[in-house]
Amino acid sequence: MLLHELLDGLPAYELRGSADVEVTGVCFDTRRLRPSDLFVAVPEANRDGHIFIEQAVERGAAAVVAERPPAQPLPVSLVLVPRSKPALADLAATFHDHPSRKLRLIGVTGTDGKTTTCELAAQLLRSGGVPSGFLTTVTLDYGLGAADNRTRQSTLESPDVQAGLASMVEHGCRAAVLESTSHALALDRLRNCAFDTAIVTNVTHEHLDFHRTWEGYLEAKARLLDLVQESRAVKSGRKTVILNRDDRSHQHLTRRVPVDELSYGLSPPADLRAESIEHVPSGSRFLMKSPWGDVAVQTPLVGQFNVYNCLAAAAAALVEGLSLQQVANGLAGARAVAGRMERIDEGQPFQVIVDYAHTADSLEKVLRVLRPGTPGRLLCVFGSAGERDVEKRPAMGAVAARLADYVVITNEDPRFEDAGRILEEIAAGAMAEGRLRGADFECIEDRRQAIAHAFAGATAGDTVLLAGKGHEQCIIVRDEKLPWDDRAVARELLRNLSPPSPVPTDTVGREGSFTGDDRCA
Ligand SMILES: Nc1ncnc2c1ncn2[C@@H]1O[C@H](COP(=O)(O)OP(=O)(O)OP(=O)(O)O)[C@@H](O)[C@H]1O
Ligand SMILES: [Mg+2]
Repeated sequence: MLLHELLDGLPAYELRGSADVEVTGVCFDTRRLRPSDLFVAVPEANRDGHIFIEQAVERGAAAVVAERPPAQPLPVSLVLVPRSKPALADLAATFHDHPSRKLRLIGVTGTDGKTTTCELAAQLLRSGGVPSGFLTTVTLDYGLGAADNRTRQSTLESPDVQAGLASMVEHGCRAAVLESTSHALALDRLRNCAFDTAIVTNVTHEHLDFHRTWEGYLEAKARLLDLVQESRAVKSGRKTVILNRDDRSHQHLTRRVPVDELSYGLSPPADLRAESIEHVPSGSRFLMKSPWGDVAVQTPLVGQFNVYNCLAAAAAALVEGLSLQQVANGLAGARAVAGRMERIDEGQPFQVIVDYAHTADSLEKVLRVLRPGTPGRLLCVFGSAGERDVEKRPAMGAVAARLADYVVITNEDPRFEDAGRILEEIAAGAMAEGRLRGADFECIEDRRQAIAHAFAGATAGDTVLLAGKGHEQCIIVRDEKLPWDDRAVARELLRNLSPPSPVPTDTVGREGSFTGDDRCA
């Protein structure tokens, strides 16, 4: 593509040099730059891309986009723009010929449940015959099959989002589902994404370090609603905003919905409702009531919050034209997201669950979900990361002490901190709740030994929760990333347990395994 064709996609710019230059890609990171790419210098919070302009030119950049000219004149064309971050998104979308206009595009934002809802929505669409790609914290599926997301970014930067959508179009996808974090929305990563449907799962008090106030955080999420409205100008078709009627964000967001609203919740007047909910060892059952009619749903996903995630994903699928029965069939066959309430079953007589909960709040939610499905004792293995949110440690210790019967406190990415001290800070919270070391909890630094200790103490009817690492593939000790996978370690330890004495299956919750085994490697 020639530079002048790309520049047509910018609202304002000043060109210094020729526009008749061949450009083979749009890039903002010199480590990924290929010769003849257009380099965009983006000022980020932790580094200013303008200092890499010289390096980009040395590596063969065809031209440079920047907010200010470098001190020395450049041997290649220079394009000056008022703000290079939105320009990056505009150039990437133009380069890939606006792929989001060729797909039905669904965005999911919210504090919790984004990844789960995205993956469920994509699974439903696919099972209903709509080829779909999706990009989440856990998985990147460009229409070619699922791959682990190893970027540690829930929403990729705009060139990767646009390239991803282009790949989906190329591989025959008719829909795409994008996890849309409030950071990404605020930082223009999803600019030029013509969303047809926006889902907001919930908005609680999190990430206020970045957005300052709850209202500011809510505003960032509401940006997804604006993108749905804006997409009318470039793409026809139904536009819908799907909101959680039971969340306090609803009353604020409903006023801002510029298109059709579809709400979900557990009681009227939500449009899509789950009624007569039953939590059973093999998952959840409920009656889904909707403007399209009613259908009985049975899903292997556990916990009330997953009922909400199912409703949100079902709403999106119904909007795309799936029938009620297709949605019910899809939910029946749904797989849990890797490391989210994922059940590990090696035939042991107790239940083992791996979950990503790594805050006091989410740990509390998960323990409360697991309690009713646990006829025996609830055991919990968890830690707290080094050099991050240090004040949450005693709070996590206290929550676990209150809601679990036995707690094993262990390592979780200690980094350069003294691992033993982190464990003691968590233990202080448990002791403040009156729990005794040895009898009620134990501190074991080595995570494998900690898990083995919990398994050794578990008997039929118990549940062991391994919390905090979820799908993650490493544990960070000092600055080393040591390979680690809670699920793989749990399986290995369970296989080596001595064979259990036979127990009635109705107490062990073994029917209907729904693990994401294929992603564990
Ligand atoms: N609808 C929900 N409401 C509240 N908590 C939830 C909900 N869905 C999932 N959770 C909890 O949050 C954890 C993370 O779920 P998920 O990965 O789907 O959320 P996310 O919004 O993508 O999170 P992140 O911001 O870390 O990417 C789960 O392991 C579970 O403990
Ligand atoms: Mg996520």
